[in-house]
Amino acid sequence: MKAIVYTKYGSPDVLHLQEVERTIPKEDEALVKVHAASVNAADLEILRGNWSARFGGPLKPKHKILGSDIAGRIEAVGRNIKQFQPGDEIWADLSLLGYGAFAEYVCIPENALRLKPARMTFEEAAAVPSAGANALQNLRGVGSSSPSFLLSDKGEIQPGKKVLINGAGGGVGTFAVQIAKSFGAEVTGVDSPSKLDMLRSIGADHVIDYTQEDFTKSGQRYDFILDVVASRTIFDYKRALSPKGIFVMVGGSGAAILQAFLLGPLISMTGSKKMGIVMWKPNNQVDLAILEELFEAGKVVPVIDRRYPLSETAEALQYLEEGHARGKIVITME
Ligand SMILES: NC(=O)c1ccc[n+]([C@@H]2O[C@H](COP(=O)([O-])OP(=O)(O)OC[C@H]3O[C@@H](n4cnc5c(N)ncnc54)[C@H](OP(=O)(O)O)[C@@H]3O)[C@@H](O)[C@H]2O)c1
Repeated sequence: MKAIVYTKYGSPDVLHLQEVERTIPKEDEALVKVHAASVNAADLEILRGNWSARFGGPLKPKHKILGSDIAGRIEAVGRNIKQFQPGDEIWADLSLLGYGAFAEYVCIPENALRLKPARMTFEEAAAVPSAGANALQNLRGVGSSSPSFLLSDKGEIQPGKKVLINGAGGGVGTFAVQIAKSFGAEVTGVDSPSKLDMLRSIGADHVIDYTQEDFTKSGQRYDFILDVVASRTIFDYKRALSPKGIFVMVGGSGAAILQAFLLGPLISMTGSKKMGIVMWKPNNQVDLAILEELFEAGKVVPVIDRRYPLSETAEALQYLEEGHARGKIVITME
């Protein structure tokens, strides 16, 4: 089978299209023919050899094929597989399963497989797992190791609450805008000028062009701020929160992350505002079920910016690394 392989850490240039042996499913696995995959910040971080990648492979990558989010069709099943059969269309998150989505075929254990909603295209399904679950967990405050003071699942995001998403036009942000709207919030999306019309089209009630306006200095207060690309001091965000407001950081500069980790708990315990980071929990079937329901209800529809063939996965990751994507970037099989 064809796969995008890498044998050393580095930039997307180290990725190569290669013929590799097709994997054989174990007893509790299904062999899936991949129809679409999507690229995520995590692929780039692992490709470049971040701490989590180095933990498994200090000098060279442990897994040779990247890609966590896939949608495809089952070709064959191991004999212990009970709930799926050849021909089933599925989607999955392979983040905790050694990756492998950037290939024509991949083996997936039964407990990670989900039937793809019939109305969802393969490309849409591949766009959802990481970015959609990341947005959902950050808005609900329920990730893998979320500080209890950040729990917003008890109903803080209620109809009429003012929610601001910074970096709203990218992979995570486009899901966050739609999910916050589905909670009934009044949503403000902040991003570059070329994305503001798209943000309105997916439901943002207000948009802010970050090149023209700093939302932390406008005097407006928000009940919930979610920042995908945080770069300000934690005190800037605190100023923009309503008295019982919540600030959650998805990602950002090293300094911003450090402040959220160190000062977030302190601020949260000493005042009425809550601030911090929710660590994303991959392959959470509860989240995928919620996202499925929101899709079926027409409340969350993946925004896909570009599609690249498998052979151009390196270009897709380069485009993601530039940081200007409008929604998700999808890999399709030729
Ligand atoms: N918490 C967790 O467990 C976890 C897990 C996985 C990933 N992450 C994080 O999630 C983030 C990835 O998000 P993503 O895939 O949505 O990224 P993305 O697709 O690159 O989107 C980022 C968006 O932010 C916009 N932007 C850039 N600078 C901005 C600024 N100063 N103000 C407002 N908007 C700005 C970009 O638009 P323009 O460039 O056009 O301006 C783009 O629309 C990464 O930081 C990653 O580390 C977190």
